[in-house]
Amino acid sequence: MPLTPEQVRAHIPLTAKYIYLDNCATTPVPKPVVEAMLEYFYDYCANVERGAYSIASLANEKWDLARAKAAKLLLNCKADEFIFTRNTTEAICMVAYALEHPLLDRVNGSFGEQEPIIKWEKGDNIVFSELEHHSNMMPWIRLARHVGAEIKVVPFNRETGQIEPSEVEKVVDERTKVLAIQHVSNVTGVIHPVEEFVKIAKEANPNCLVVIDGSQGPGHMPIDVKRIGCDAYAFSGHKGPLGPQGSGGLFVRSELLERMEPMEIGGGTIADVTTHDYKLRDDVLCKRWEAGTPSIACLIGLGRAAEYVAEEIGLERVRKREEELTEQFIEGLLDIPNVEIYGETEDMSIKAGVVSFNIRGWSSHDISMALDNEFKPPILVRAGHHCAIPACRALGVYERYGGTVRASFHYYNTPEEVEAALKAIRKLAGA
Ligand SMILES: Cc1ncc(COP(=O)(O)O)c(C=O)c1O
Repeated sequence: MPLTPEQVRAHIPLTAKYIYLDNCATTPVPKPVVEAMLEYFYDYCANVERGAYSIASLANEKWDLARAKAAKLLLNCKADEFIFTRNTTEAICMVAYALEHPLLDRVNGSFGEQEPIIKWEKGDNIVFSELEHHSNMMPWIRLARHVGAEIKVVPFNRETGQIEPSEVEKVVDERTKVLAIQHVSNVTGVIHPVEEFVKIAKEANPNCLVVIDGSQGPGHMPIDVKRIGCDAYAFSGHKGPLGPQGSGGLFVRSELLERMEPMEIGGGTIADVTTHDYKLRDDVLCKRWEAGTPSIACLIGLGRAAEYVAEEIGLERVRKREEELTEQFIEGLLDIPNVEIYGETEDMSIKAGVVSFNIRGWSSHDISMALDNEFKPPILVRAGHHCAIPACRALGVYERYGGTVRASFHYYNTPEEVEAALKAIRKLAGA
C-alpha cells in the first residue's frame, strides 16, 4: 500500500507545529531518510572507495546503491551517467566549467589537452530564459564573457508565466552552442515543455547542448531524461525528492561525460598519478567528478529518499496531490480582493505546486512575516525575489513588492492547511 499523506506527516515532526508551505526552497526530511543516514553514522561510518575492511565495503556498497536508486527512480538514467552533487547550483557550474576548459588527461601515454567539447568562435551564442533562477543564469553569463559568446534571452509569457516553444524558436539559431533552460519555474510554478525545447534547439543546431535546470522537477513528478533528450539535467535532492540538504544530482549523456573536464580533481578521481601527470579514471565515469571524500551520509540519504518518494509514495500520486492542493489554493486566492496572482491559474496540467502572489498595499516580506507571527500554527511561506531578479523585474513585482509571496506544496500538505492559509490571507487582505 502506498504511504498516505497522514503517514508521511507522521514521518515529518515539523508538520505538528507549522504549516510548512516552502517546499520550493527546501523540504523537511522524513524520518526513514534520517534513519538511513543515522544507520551510516552509527553502524558503518567508513570512507568510500578506499578501505578493504568490512564496514568500508558496506559503505561503498550502500553509496553505489544510493546512486543507482536516485538515477533510476528520479531521472530514469543509468547510474554511471549520474554525478552526485551538493545541489543544482553546483551541478550547473560543473557543466559550464567543462564547456570552458578542455579535458586535460593522459591518453595513449601522452598528457595534454583533448579536443574541447565546444570550439567557441566569434558569433556563437548561449541562450537561456528570462525566467531562470540565478543559478542557471550566472554560470552562463560568466562562460559567455570568458569565451566571447553572445547571450540571447528567451522572454516568458507575462500572463501564464510560461516559456513558450515559439519564443525559444525565435531566439535559437545555428550559432547557439548552449540552451540552458528550466523545467519548472520556482516563480510562476509553470511546467515547461522541455522535450519540445530540446527538439527546437537541435533542429536549429544539431550540436547545440541542452542543459536543463530541474531543481523543481524530480520528486514532484516522474522524469525521464532520455525521453526529454537533453544533454544534461541538474537537480537538488533537498526539494522534491525529500532528501537531505547538501545532496543533488547531475545527469550527463555518457558520450559527453567522457569528454568533460571535472571542476575538481584529486583523490577518488584517478586511474594513475605520477609527479608530472595523471590518468583520470574511466571505470565508472561519473566518479571522475567526485573528488575527495563525498558527503556520504547525505548521498545515502538521497538514495533512501528516492525510494521513499518514488516507490513508497509514488510520483504520480505526488503530482496528483500537488495539483489538487494548487487548484484549491488558486481558486481561493482568486476570490480575495486585492490579491494579484502570477502565472497560470486555469490549466493545472502545466502548473506545479508553486503559487506566487501579492496583496496590494503590502510588501511581500511583510506578508510572510505576518503569516508566521500572527497565526497559529504559524504559516511558513517564502517572500522576495526567489533568486530570480530578472523574472521578478519582468513581472513588475521587484520594485513594487520586493518580489512575490510564494506558497509551495508537497504530498504531505493537506486541504485543511491550504484553507488555513487562505483564511489568513483573507484576513491580511481585509476581506
Ligand atoms: C529553478 C531553480 N533552479 C536552481 C535552484 C538552486 O537550487 P540549489 O539552491 O539547491 O542549488 C533553485 C532553488 O530554489 C530553483 O528553484
